[in-house]
Amino acid sequence: MHSLVGLAACLVGFASYIDTSVQFTGAEKAIHEVEIYVGILIGAVTFAGSVIAFGKLSGKIGGKPLLLPARHWLNLAALLVVIVFGRAFLHAETIQDGMTPLFVMTAISLLFGVHMVMAIGGADMPVVVSMLNSYSGWAAAATGFMLSNDLLIVIGALVGSSGAILSYIMCRAMNRNFISVIAGGFGTGSGVSAPTGGGAQPAGEAIAVSAAETAELLRDAKSVIIVPGYGMAVAQAQHTVFELTSLLREKGVDVRFAIHPVAGRMPGHMNVLLAEAKVPYNIVMEMDEINADFPEADVSMVIGANDIVNPAAQEDPASPIAGMPVLEVWKAKTSIVMKRSMASGYAGVDNPLFYKDNNRMLFGDAKTMLSEIFGVLKA
Ligand code: TAP
Repeated sequence: MHSLVGLAACLVGFASYIDTSVQFTGAEKAIHEVEIYVGILIGAVTFAGSVIAFGKLSGKIGGKPLLLPARHWLNLAALLVVIVFGRAFLHAETIQDGMTPLFVMTAISLLFGVHMVMAIGGADMPVVVSMLNSYSGWAAAATGFMLSNDLLIVIGALVGSSGAILSYIMCRAMNRNFISVIAGGFGTGSGVSAPTGGGAQPAGEAIAVSAAETAELLRDAKSVIIVPGYGMAVAQAQHTVFELTSLLREKGVDVRFAIHPVAGRMPGHMNVLLAEAKVPYNIVMEMDEINADFPEADVSMVIGANDIVNPAAQEDPASPIAGMPVLEVWKAKTSIVMKRSMASGYAGVDNPLFYKDNNRMLFGDAKTMLSEIFGVLKA
């Protein structure tokens, strides 16, 4: 979708340049040409970048960052060429004269878009998708300027600025430096196919529990914190989560939700699912609001989450996710992890949480397991 917005901005740019039905003169002509030049530039970067991002996310292109030698100098040289040709474009006497700098700039922007996303590692793709979302907003705003369409300008600017803020927030949530992510080379090719570990292998044995035992733990608890993750979305378990939450609250248990900023596969993924299931907003907390409360919780219940509750991020400097803030579920009296197997999550790293003494594993599909717990509690 982002690539189509970018492509549209390019096509509208070329079309409005060769369109002779509207004649601009003086300052207006210069402004219109700047709009065209910048619009095509943003559009071409967005188009090429989005196509490469699609290739990476669908596994058609490897997740490993492509790090060309002197890539920053290459980018700088490209920028200089774009500025020089921009000058030539603005000084062009005829449309024919203006087409050459426009084509050169478009080609460079397309190459830049490819290079920019190829240089980003698999683990940072969420940030890139949000960044391309922002670019597509700016491309739409540029199209709005070219077509004198106020609605496109307003909507494009909203998408552009909110996408940029979101990218920044995601970088902070993953403890990444925004500039470094954009400059590329971060997240050394982990992503879906990352090798297990990189840091120390967790030792110990994981203790499995049944749904009935989990129900027992929940029944005895005064305070429960639920941590939803990608697995809850896969299992479409949000409605069952809501039913269980309502039942526990009726029984006087204090139930709250802890949302990690990159839980799931999209920004706000968990918030949307919980809102869809009508979970009240006032018990859905952001990571910063609730992380300090885990030591007071009797039970922390992890539903299909993995990377966002991995203590290795704090404890193992060699871990590929070292430094990423995580929800400290292991600090609760008992933590229960609900998932189908011992498999790793998106980042492909082992999770020492599973082997902690106060942790229990409830193996199975999240929705099925939650229904079983609900049944036992109801009975
Ligand atoms: P993950 O680390 O991906 O873990 C999800 C877990 O859910 C898996 O380990 C899987 O284990 C389990 N699962 C899958 N299907 C299930 C089912 N039907 N029932 C029960 N469990 C199921 O998810 P997370 O903890 O939410 O972390 C998100 C990760 O995605 C982070 O690494 C983040 O950087 C990345 N990411 C985030 C975004 C955004 S913007 N949110 C975008 C792209 C990537 P089993 O296979 O054993 O069941």
